[in-house]
Amino acid sequence: MIKSPLQYTLRLRRFNPESGEMPYWQDFKVELEGHRSVLDAILKLRDEVDGSIGIRCSCRQAICGSCGVRINDKPGLACHTHLERAAQAAREGSRVIQVEPMGNMPVMKDLIVDMDAVHWKKVHRVTPWLINRQPTPEREHIVPRQSMIDVTQTMACIQCGACVSDCLSMEVDPEFIGPAALAKAYRFVGDPRDAWHYERLKDLSEDPHGLYDCSHCWMCIDACPKGVAPMSQIMRLRRLAGSDHHIEDHNNGHRHEHAFTENIRRNGLLHEADVLPDSYGGKLNPRAVPVLLYSLPVILRALARRKITFGNALLHPHRRRFKGLHRLFDSIQRRESRYELNLYVSGYDSGEPAEVAGSGPAMVATGASGLDTTHAPRRQGEDR
Ligand code: SF4
Ligand code: SF4
Ligand code: FES
Repeated sequence: MIKSPLQYTLRLRRFNPESGEMPYWQDFKVELEGHRSVLDAILKLRDEVDGSIGIRCSCRQAICGSCGVRINDKPGLACHTHLERAAQAAREGSRVIQVEPMGNMPVMKDLIVDMDAVHWKKVHRVTPWLINRQPTPEREHIVPRQSMIDVTQTMACIQCGACVSDCLSMEVDPEFIGPAALAKAYRFVGDPRDAWHYERLKDLSEDPHGLYDCSHCWMCIDACPKGVAPMSQIMRLRRLAGSDHHIEDHNNGHRHEHAFTENIRRNGLLHEADVLPDSYGGKLNPRAVPVLLYSLPVILRALARRKITFGNALLHPHRRRFKGLHRLFDSIQRRESRYELNLYVSGYDSGEPAEVAGSGPAMVATGASGLDTTHAPRRQGEDR
């Protein structure tokens, strides 16, 4: 059934650095069928109404990653967002679709941001190529299937920058290496052909804007149109760095993580007053003293405003309620090795086509013969 065109209002964020004017919003009416994309509407406006509208695009099929924008306050691909979907999410039940440039990157013109200044600079920071020290084989390098499945998720990245746009840590610390670049780093740390696993992990752990700068806000997971889940890749890098390679970084990131989990194991529910000193070896450890002194004004303010009491700061108020939970922790930690399931690839055994969680026909992988891709656990540390 052919759907008739509907009228939508596109509210575009305009900015022309050459004009000397501040950025402003401009409304345009456009008539198009609801299944057409936001990019279609913008290109129609540019062709028929205002040739000066700035938007970057190429494939129009969610492959090249060049049309990243924010639509109704959420990052996404303009070519991969239907008008009717965008209108449903619009404010006031209207058909007003608000489009603005991605965040955390300087705006060059209208909806075009400077990807070189932020996104690509950070990708280059993680040495985004394979470093191989094995002799070149006569034919190809043979890689275990499980290892390739493990990195498939990061290989699906189209470098659109949507995750960078929404990263809360990067908003606070623009030097943070960021979700896209760290996901790229996992692509090589997870590849058995790469000879620099330890060096990469050490470098990213020691960088004060590296692995431990992520605040687990999940925004990059929601933002990614390809299901790369950058935060999950960052957590994998951390586990490899801290648990498998025992890298004790100068930022105290690994010790802080350890203190955090130990705190929950001990108390059942986080006892926040202990996390800071425990991250530095405990209240009585000389390394903890300067940090506690530095935090003293905040602690005193919290006490004065009754956000905490002396009793709660010293003893966990609900510890007894969760007595016994540490046994669960211990039983998990006693296991000899950790298994990780890559849930990105799903499908069936023996030649059945396996669908990769993501989107679009480009994301369909062929099921590896004899391999159940749904259950492809990899023992951490193997194939490395
Ligand atoms: S989870 Fe980490 S990397 Fe992802 S958006 Fe939040 S702070 Fe950034
Ligand atoms: S991880 Fe996802 S959101 Fe980030 S650049 Fe890659 S495809 Fe885009
Ligand atoms: S134009 Fe290529 S991803 Fe949108």
